[in-house]
Amino acid sequence: MNDFWSGVGVDLRLEPDSADGRRVGLERALRDAVRDGRLTPGTRLPATRRLATDLGISRGTAKAAYDQLVAEGYLTARQGSGTRVAELPAVDAETPQAHARARAPRHDLRPGGPDVGAFPAAAWLRALRRAIATAPSLAYDYGDPRGRIELRTALSGYLGRARGVLAPPERIVVTSGYVQGLALLTRVLGGAAVAMEDPGLPFHRDVVRHNGGTVLPVPVDTRGVRPEELGEAAAVVVTPAHQYPTGVTLHPERRRALTDWARARGGLIVEDDYDGEFRYDRQPVGAVQGMAPGQVVYLGTASKTLGPALRLGWMVLPPHLVDAVAEAKLHSDHHTETIGQLALAELIDSHAYDRHVRACRLRYRRRRDQLLGRLGARRSVRGVAAGLHALIEVPDEAEVLARAEAEGLALGALGEHWHTPHAGRPQGLVVGYGTPRERAYPEALEALAKVLEPPR
Ligand SMILES: Cc1ncc(COP(=O)(O)O)c(C=O)c1O
Repeated sequence: MNDFWSGVGVDLRLEPDSADGRRVGLERALRDAVRDGRLTPGTRLPATRRLATDLGISRGTAKAAYDQLVAEGYLTARQGSGTRVAELPAVDAETPQAHARARAPRHDLRPGGPDVGAFPAAAWLRALRRAIATAPSLAYDYGDPRGRIELRTALSGYLGRARGVLAPPERIVVTSGYVQGLALLTRVLGGAAVAMEDPGLPFHRDVVRHNGGTVLPVPVDTRGVRPEELGEAAAVVVTPAHQYPTGVTLHPERRRALTDWARARGGLIVEDDYDGEFRYDRQPVGAVQGMAPGQVVYLGTASKTLGPALRLGWMVLPPHLVDAVAEAKLHSDHHTETIGQLALAELIDSHAYDRHVRACRLRYRRRRDQLLGRLGARRSVRGVAAGLHALIEVPDEAEVLARAEAEGLALGALGEHWHTPHAGRPQGLVVGYGTPRERAYPEALEALAKVLEPPR
């Protein structure tokens, strides 16, 4: 039996060796294609004789599969008009297929994600194998809420050499991504006023509010966040290496002003170092935490370097916050899942993590160059050569977004990042050039160039 079949104009992946046998494999492939809309209502399916020949299966098996799907209502069979895809009742918006369809544009340049196709699966598998082979049986029990010592030790070395972070293992708490670190910290701060960059990621503002914090906007300009506008904030969340979404780097004078503010006012700097490894025109700028480890909570994540699905992040805390954050973590979920932590520790210790980050840096740098090359000098791309996204200024966001939607191109808009949107704000597109798979990137760029062409 063939593994792929495109006799009905769409690729169907058949699993001939599935334990359930050929009929069930064929049924499943057809059912999935009908459900997720690849086979549209009314499409005529080939006669069982041709299907059987194409697939190298018996005609009886092909007929049994059709009969089953007719009985389930996915297909209709009528004398004279053959077997066709049935009209399904309105799709339940909650099915995974409906979700996937809603989320899957033709071209995806939304910011926020890495190219998950570059996930180092072989290296991860090796690390996982080794982690499991060497883990003591106690590793499968409840553990330290701060996370496994193996990972905290590995991170301590890595963060010191790669990001200039002063990170003794006892001050690290491993979290389920950056977002959990932000949530835990907000809870520990107990309803305090938290200043957040304007523009910034709306989701993170929601996280702070959901955890009892009060969000204050603090403006960002071409030198990054403006410390002189921190007002009564008890803490400020910043993205110094590569501001999200404007792409600027925090100016050295502002870094100093920020740490001066923290020392003078007893304020807390929350450093979101989400893509600090990815700088293309020079060595990455070290973390602010290295200048003021007593005033900064440093947060890092594997979401950009490996993949968001791992849900692995880390906090490096000033001494006075370690116990409170560890306790909040304990009451949240005991601790982050252990085996993934051990695998990441292996990946770092074997230097496979560094090698992967280096390879990704080259890949994303090339993509950014391709983006700039394709758009040419007519378009203003803001921010430094870093990270996985770029801000492109446009005169009318809504107009370009409408053209993008018609083209099946998903993009981010600067507009959604303001604390209080209003007319007169700068307008722009936030383009995630890390997101598409490698082969899909050139087409996505073409689609972008097309929607940015001024309409004639
Ligand atoms: C600004 C910013 N911070 C942090 C993160 C990482 O979040 P997490 O580690 O929860 O996936 C992202 C991911 O998109 C981000 O855009």
